Amino acid sequence: MNVPRIAFAFALAATLIAARGAPAAEPLKIGVIAEFSGPFAGYGKQMHNGIKAFIRQHGDTVAGRKVEIILKDTTGPAPEVAKRLAQDLVTQDKVDFLAGFGLTPNALAVAPLATQAKTPMIVMNAASSVITTRSPYVARLSMTLPQVTAPMAQWAAKNGIRRVYSIVSDYAPGIDAETTFAKTFQAQGGEVVGSVRVPLKNPDFAPFVQRAKDARPQAVFIFVPAGEQGIAFVKAFTERGLREAGIKLIGSGDVVDDDVLEAMGDATLGVITTHHYSAAHDSPENAAFKKAYAEANGTGSRPNFMAVAGYDGMAAIYAVAKKLDGKIDADQAMAALKGLALQSPRGPIHIDPETRDIVQTVYVRKVERTKAGLYNVEFDRFADVKDPGK
Ligand code: PHB
Repeated sequence: MNVPRIAFAFALAATLIAARGAPAAEPLKIGVIAEFSGPFAGYGKQMHNGIKAFIRQHGDTVAGRKVEIILKDTTGPAPEVAKRLAQDLVTQDKVDFLAGFGLTPNALAVAPLATQAKTPMIVMNAASSVITTRSPYVARLSMTLPQVTAPMAQWAAKNGIRRVYSIVSDYAPGIDAETTFAKTFQAQGGEVVGSVRVPLKNPDFAPFVQRAKDARPQAVFIFVPAGEQGIAFVKAFTERGLREAGIKLIGSGDVVDDDVLEAMGDATLGVITTHHYSAAHDSPENAAFKKAYAEANGTGSRPNFMAVAGYDGMAAIYAVAKKLDGKIDADQAMAALKGLALQSPRGPIHIDPETRDIVQTVYVRKVERTKAGLYNVEFDRFADVKDPGK
């Protein structure tokens, strides 16, 4: 009795599906948790600019899925906010990947959630060594402080620097920088004549810089998180006349961040740092990256190391999506990330399969005035540096 009618209904449904084609795949959702406002707003901006540069070059669809970027603002170092944003992203938006994370405390707050929700977490900056140990679902596409500061100590010791005063921000990345620099430098016969840890949002470096000057070191070693802290530190270093007293400035590249280098001006000339990316890096990949960055974001800013990590984080996500044919399973995604090798704008990089941390070249650079402005000009390198912090 009813059979013909049911058969008709099936036939109709089949025709409708055929007419529309296969049902469209769900978008590939990437939740980017970063600092988009407040004193660290440059971090979110640069990571997002790097993400946009990648999409500009490689398109907004991968493995048949349209890529959807969802931005969430932590407003600064705010672990509780970061955690709540991650919760929303996994429960409501049902993101395929968590990404971003400029500041270590925000990344540390979210790592346990990546485990609970079984969601891969792609770190695009946060750089204290410990982060990747906090969840098997974390992979880091940026750097670690021990990775970039051990080469600084080696270079300084080999280049006649014997006495150093150390100044770092008082939180995990700063402590990583201080301890790795001291250990490596002392092992090479160097002496740390004094050290101080300053608050993460330190308004005035003058008293700390004066103490450093009074200790009469050959160089001050500095780590502060990129941006405003670097500007404030360099200002005090200049005003207190350390350069005139013959004291060199060395450190991790964060203090002479490309995003603010031009604004810091000639006071940065001659500063020697070690880092994994300089906008002045000379390679075809970096030239193409800078072109895409300018096309996607205008010419108002130059890419810094957070932009390149945003770009490489996207490259990693696209590589995983292709390998899994668009079906993102967290364990399979992590397996695909382990050992992943990319030709980054910064040089060759790969993900250590044991630690899920990045292995990369660390460059020694000096701030110089080039025809295009102030740049960190690379002049030496340490190849295939792993995170020595684990
Ligand atoms: C961090 O919080 O891990 C961090 C932030 C800014 C940097 C480096 C590390 O420049």
